[in-house]
Amino acid sequence: MSESVSLTDAANHTVALPLVTGTIGPKAIDIGRLHKETGLFTYDPGFMSTASCRSAITYIDGDAGVLMYRGYPIEQLAKHSNFLEVAYLLIHGELPTKAEFAAFDHEVTHHTMMRESMRSFLNGFHYDAHPMAMLCAMVGSLAAFYHDSTDIDDPKQRYLAAIRLIAKMPTMAAAAYRYSIGWPIRFPRNNLDYCTRFLHMMFEVPSERLELPEVAAKALDLLFILHADHEQNASTSTVRLVGSTGANPYACIAAGIAALWGPAHGGANEAVLKMLEEIGTPDQVGRAIDKAKDKNSGFRLMGFGHRVYKNYDPRAAIIREMTHRVLADLGVSDPLLDVAMKLEEAALKDPYFVERKLYPNVDFYSGLIYKALNIPTEMFTVMFALGRTPGWIAHWLEQHVTPDAKIGRPRQVYTGAATRDYVPIDRRG
Ligand code: ACO
Repeated sequence: MSESVSLTDAANHTVALPLVTGTIGPKAIDIGRLHKETGLFTYDPGFMSTASCRSAITYIDGDAGVLMYRGYPIEQLAKHSNFLEVAYLLIHGELPTKAEFAAFDHEVTHHTMMRESMRSFLNGFHYDAHPMAMLCAMVGSLAAFYHDSTDIDDPKQRYLAAIRLIAKMPTMAAAAYRYSIGWPIRFPRNNLDYCTRFLHMMFEVPSERLELPEVAAKALDLLFILHADHEQNASTSTVRLVGSTGANPYACIAAGIAALWGPAHGGANEAVLKMLEEIGTPDQVGRAIDKAKDKNSGFRLMGFGHRVYKNYDPRAAIIREMTHRVLADLGVSDPLLDVAMKLEEAALKDPYFVERKLYPNVDFYSGLIYKALNIPTEMFTVMFALGRTPGWIAHWLEQHVTPDAKIGRPRQVYTGAATRDYVPIDRRG
């Protein structure tokens, strides 16, 4: 017999609610029949206790600091895999064979070009537009350029859209950056791997050959792996919510990009760098910690805390190591790293942060690596979007093969005025 929990309402009416069991992790109470049987809704602002779907893509145990894609621990993927292989894994559910990987790589590589008309679209932006605004708009606009991949009921079209998004996102991101600094756009070079190609599109100038240190593409690849998916975070949930309406894939991913932009989510890496610059020197760290603890200051330590991880973010541990390697290999001595190290050390010892389990998250270090790679601060969230794209796509694809999928439509507890009669304007006041 399947497990259930019983709930009794004020009128002594009892309803048995079935439990939903996953492969691992806590069980969930299926409240689908709750309103029908009791007239009650559940109230869970921020979805602190609510699972919105079943998913076989990513598993997180926030208390234990565990993150797995399709069952593979993030530490193993970070050590042995590469971003494109991880993208394949997220989308297809299994690691590819050599032939499968070669075919996937070929498909992605041969969809990297951007249409000329996209360039005209880009030219419409003001010179100082934020690259996230440009990326969001350009991705949404793909639906207007590629009508052959917007039929969401056709698996081939869904897959084509997935490949296009993974392939074109770096081209559009680099184009947005170069437009913002007035440089000519570079076309993708298909003889390069995914991350090296992106760095070339970002930094190569027509007049000079770009010499890239090996560690640059490696670090980027690692960051993209670590950002590739994180189950039902705000942007992925947004992609799914928009996807549940039957919207086209480009609109769904553009919505995910918009959700990622906020400082409580993907915008945090940009906010970390700004915060470290404001703190300035290691001797000012104590003041920053005090300010973060003062609720009236409105200041939080950016890059600390996580909705799910109430333990060390496993991605932060991996990135921390890479940050040191990048700075050593590139010979960068960054005073901001000294501030960052001091801040981490001080926060990890401070009872306020310890009691609330506020550890450095993935964004705390990623900004330092991006800075060392000369990626400008306003591009940091764009970098996050590039890494997260396969995850968004995997969830969007998964939701379209889920039987009985419904449009996402939360309820509310109404707190406005009770029923009252309309008063004509000359009788008000
Ligand atoms: N600095 C200082 N205090 C903090 C911080 C912080 N960074 N984060 C949480 N707190 C405090 C809160 O004030 C609260 O204190 P209280 O219990 O005394 O009221 C307590 O810790 C719990 O905070 P919540 O906001 O309830 O925690 P929640 O899980 O909702 O928030 C979040 C998580 C949004 C990430 C939060 O920790 C935060 O704002 N961090 C800074 C921004 C950041 O780094 N975001 C990146 C997230 S990771 C990602 O998107 C990849």
